[in-house]
Amino acid sequence: GFAASAVTERSFIMVKPDGVHRGLVGDIIKRFEQRGYKLVGCKVLVPSRELAAKHYAEHDGKPFFPKLVDFLTSGAVVALVFEGKDVVKTGRTMIGATNPLASPPGTIRADFGIDMGRNIIHGSDSVESAMREIALWFRADELADYTPVATAWIY
Ligand code: TYD
Ligand code: MG
Repeated sequence: GFAASAVTERSFIMVKPDGVHRGLVGDIIKRFEQRGYKLVGCKVLVPSRELAAKHYAEHDGKPFFPKLVDFLTSGAVVALVFEGKDVVKTGRTMIGATNPLASPPGTIRADFGIDMGRNIIHGSDSVESAMREIALWFRADELADYTPVATAWIY
């Protein structure tokens, strides 16, 4: 039958300020929806420097860190949580390489960009990172617990 998977893995996906300014939010959400992932969290905000620095804490001290925080706080972002089978790894595959020029055609970063400092989208790099990032960006009551009507068709 078409029973939905019981897997509830989640990933934190974020459209960065360049993606929002360029009107790519819909295209990006569409790719995840089409693949079969379920949207359980979604909000638009201008991140504070504190939030941006916490999000990218692993890069604190690296040469590109100050510009990265400047960039992420330069406008609105769309913070998303998608849920489904292998969403962390598959989400990274859909997003592509960190440098859009090194990213294969068909990936989000390759299809929409050419600049590493403006690479449109963030996706969690591990299940552990996803849990940390989701807790950083969302309160528990901002994540929806629901069963889509067409649940049998969501893998
Ligand atoms: P990183 O976590 O290495 O990449 P990814 O987003 O693919 O997980 O780096 C975080 C962001 O920092 C990256 O999306 C773009 C920026 N960045 C630079 O501007 N210069 C760099 O040399 C690197 C490695 C990243
Ligand atoms: Mg990363």
